[in-house]
Amino acid sequence: MDQKGFFQVDYSKSDFIEVKIGMLGYGFMGQVHSNAFIKVPFSFSDPVARPVLLAICGRNQKKVEDTARRFGYKEYCLDWQLLAKDPRIDIFDNCTPDDWHYLPSIVAMENGKHVICEKPLSLKLEEAFQMAQKARETKIKTMCCYNYRFLPAVRFAHQLIKQGILGKIYQFRAKYLQQQGHNPFEHIEKVWYAHGTKSGILMGIGSHIIDMAHFLIGEITAVSGLRKTYNQMRKDCSGKSNPVSADECTIAILEFKNGAIGTIESSGVSTGRKNYQGWEINGSKGSIVFDLEDLNHLQVYSTDANPPEIQGFSNVLVTDSEHPLQINYLPSGHNQGWEYGHVHALHHFLDCVVNDKPVEPLGASFQDGYRVQVVIEAINQSSARGKRVEIKEFGRDI
Ligand SMILES: NC(=O)c1ccc[n+]([C@@H]2O[C@H](COP(=O)([O-])OP(=O)(O)OC[C@H]3O[C@@H](n4cnc5c(N)ncnc54)[C@H](O)[C@@H]3O)[C@@H](O)[C@H]2O)c1
Repeated sequence: MDQKGFFQVDYSKSDFIEVKIGMLGYGFMGQVHSNAFIKVPFSFSDPVARPVLLAICGRNQKKVEDTARRFGYKEYCLDWQLLAKDPRIDIFDNCTPDDWHYLPSIVAMENGKHVICEKPLSLKLEEAFQMAQKARETKIKTMCCYNYRFLPAVRFAHQLIKQGILGKIYQFRAKYLQQQGHNPFEHIEKVWYAHGTKSGILMGIGSHIIDMAHFLIGEITAVSGLRKTYNQMRKDCSGKSNPVSADECTIAILEFKNGAIGTIESSGVSTGRKNYQGWEINGSKGSIVFDLEDLNHLQVYSTDANPPEIQGFSNVLVTDSEHPLQINYLPSGHNQGWEYGHVHALHHFLDCVVNDKPVEPLGASFQDGYRVQVVIEAINQSSARGKRVEIKEFGRDI
């Protein structure tokens, strides 16, 4: 019975379109994506849909049940095939480790689900190609979760470049640096890029800045790469020595179709760097600088500053309503956090699903995910051959 003076909320009268989510994996990204879906109705006064956390899948019954209860999923299961084939599910969200992206995403697409898959699209180029091709064939919506595209400062940078504010783009130099492997005596289990899927640092975090290069500058046509594994043996917690082949630092020179050139550096041995991503872009009329550790700012230099004596980099706080991706309940000057990149990414995907909009160019589709894999393959080959390689040698039309 109702408490006197209180009324039951009738959710059947909701104007929101409900989109049902099936989440595969409840680790770091399963949590980040679940949190992002939950934040959608809080973050947008007119959200495109209300995500319903229908079911989450994992392999350990107690853990997945506990997580389902904690995150607010209505159901859980232990077999990803059930999730990928469930007719009630609209969006299948694959948050498993890199070597599990392929099969569940393919099966979900074959069963008509719209699919979000964490980056990198796959560890194997051929699998990434098949995923992109399947997305094309089935015409469902797909997104590879290159979430940094959806930070307000990054979107503002994208806008400035597209509006020609920087003029002709000359250079892009990007770094993505972490420190997990800097100590040669660190146990292998603690060095994520050398353990588990052994994805390496280029695949693991370099992929983000390759996607950033595509997003902000454009198509990459040739690369010259150098991979380095400093610590070729690491002990595990039991004291046994293990060979390490994963790259710990990879640096590459990029050549773009539009004539720009660039460098990318990804490292897991940058002592002191927790999760540093930064890049600078120089154009004929201006420059911009982004630093993930200060993600609500974009440094902007414009040659149009007047009078010329005031010319200099301005540190623009991108929290005004005129800036892209602002959360309208947050007044000017109220910062967004790292997790908001995922909130915006998932809200964009919901919009694409509900309103039949293309995921590209603002989001990274599976085709974009495949393009990143092609560049990774080219950098690896360039390093192995000790010479510059052209991208067209590795990529296929999708
Ligand atoms: N975009 C980003 O910001 C970002 C950040 C970190 C990781 N990632 C990517 O996200 C993905 C997941 O990384 P993570 O850090 O969340 O890993 P994690 O190890 O924390 O979580 C992986 C989850 O997948 C589950 N899982 C694995 N195999 C499964 C199977 N066969 N069936 C059901 N569940 C299975 C695990 O139990 C776990 O819950 C990786 O591809 C990683 O590269 C992306």
